[in-house]
Amino acid sequence: MAYKIKVWCLLLVLLKLVSNLQNCAHAAPQVPCFFIFGDSLADSGNNNNLATAAKANYRPYGIDFPDGTTGRFTNGRTVVDIIGELLGFNQFIPPFATARGRDILVGVNYASGAAGIRDESGRQLGDRISLNEQLLNHVTTLSRLTQLLGTKQAAANYLNKCLYYVSLGSNDYLNNYFMPSEYITSRLYTPDQYAKVLIDRYSLQIKLLYHLGARKIALPGLGPIGSIPYSFSTLCRNNLSCVTNINNALLPFNDRLVSLVDQLNRELNDARFIYLNSTGMSSGDPSVLGFRVTNVGCCPARSDGQCIQDSTPCQNRTEYVFWDAIHPTEALNQFTARRSYNAFLPSDAYPTDISHLIS
Ligand SMILES: *[C@@H]1O[C@H](CO)[C@@H](O)[C@H](O)[C@H]1NC(C)=O
Ligand SMILES: *[C@@H]1O[C@H](CO)[C@@H](O)[C@H](O)[C@H]1NC(C)=O
Ligand SMILES: *[C@@H]1O[C@H](CO)[C@@H](O)[C@H](O)[C@H]1NC(C)=O
Repeated sequence: MAYKIKVWCLLLVLLKLVSNLQNCAHAAPQVPCFFIFGDSLADSGNNNNLATAAKANYRPYGIDFPDGTTGRFTNGRTVVDIIGELLGFNQFIPPFATARGRDILVGVNYASGAAGIRDESGRQLGDRISLNEQLLNHVTTLSRLTQLLGTKQAAANYLNKCLYYVSLGSNDYLNNYFMPSEYITSRLYTPDQYAKVLIDRYSLQIKLLYHLGARKIALPGLGPIGSIPYSFSTLCRNNLSCVTNINNALLPFNDRLVSLVDQLNRELNDARFIYLNSTGMSSGDPSVLGFRVTNVGCCPARSDGQCIQDSTPCQNRTEYVFWDAIHPTEALNQFTARRSYNAFLPSDAYPTDISHLIS
């Protein structure tokens, strides 16, 4: 335990150092563009005009964000917003739903709340843009980019320098496998079989992205979804062995994703792929980082885990790990983003972190 605390204190010092370095740098971004595929952890407004419960375009979402409520599922910035800042972008990457004209030159955020690797995941919440549809939207972006840059070759040369961040899978568990009243997957597959089915499909989707010009791809694993307040109180009704069951079911997904990263790096050797260790990064003692509340979200939550509209959230948002019953606060996102960009522990990223992926 004493050792753990020492490591965390060291991390804090390093964090401070990195943030000071970042503040000095205001040059051009380190990559020309940043493309984001994902779910509610990265959504920045793509669901606002969809018929779904999975949207965050109401108060108190965005209470600490410069532009207020935008559709982000947190109080402030998401992990990808902060990674974008660390990359040196002086604007947020625009959501596909509203990106127009030259906006797309810095990249596009396709992420959609409730979306999954499987098309049906999240269906019970309403419309969402599954990873397959996000890839189709990317094809639209590519033809717009080709028009802006003049030729296919110019577009390809531009795209292969960009960072791609693909973060899905949570809803294939929370809003699919662990919702047996709505989905049959848990009756068809054991957790290990399901992880294989998901990773086989994910592999094809990631290879398609490669064929569309991506060469630097970051793939975050799943965090310990069983431990979020929604899983504990709603899915598991405070039953701890149920929480452990959920977290254990995610292990084969993460293991297979690491193997996929190895395989893709071998097979597609003009591209680079990294795994970001979300579970590893959430495994320290959060109180050392200043967090005091880890078991409930900051805003009063609905039964589906999102904030109740116009409810009054907690005052001290930096002391809470969770903003609603599902999504982390900006305070936790800061740590996740900085460690994804610049690993603090060797286990944070594999085989390397984002700063090395793009260099
Ligand atoms: C708690 O969860 C476990 C695993 O899901 C289950 O086997 C057990 O019956 C549950 N206990 C109660 C009291 O519901
Ligand atoms: C992820 O982090 C955990 C906990 O630190 C560690 O046991 C595991 O080996 C890491 N995974 C990878 C692929 O580095
Ligand atoms: C906010 O945090 C400070 C310092 O930890 C504490 O003194 C104060 O009581 C907290 N306020 C609320 C409303 O929780």
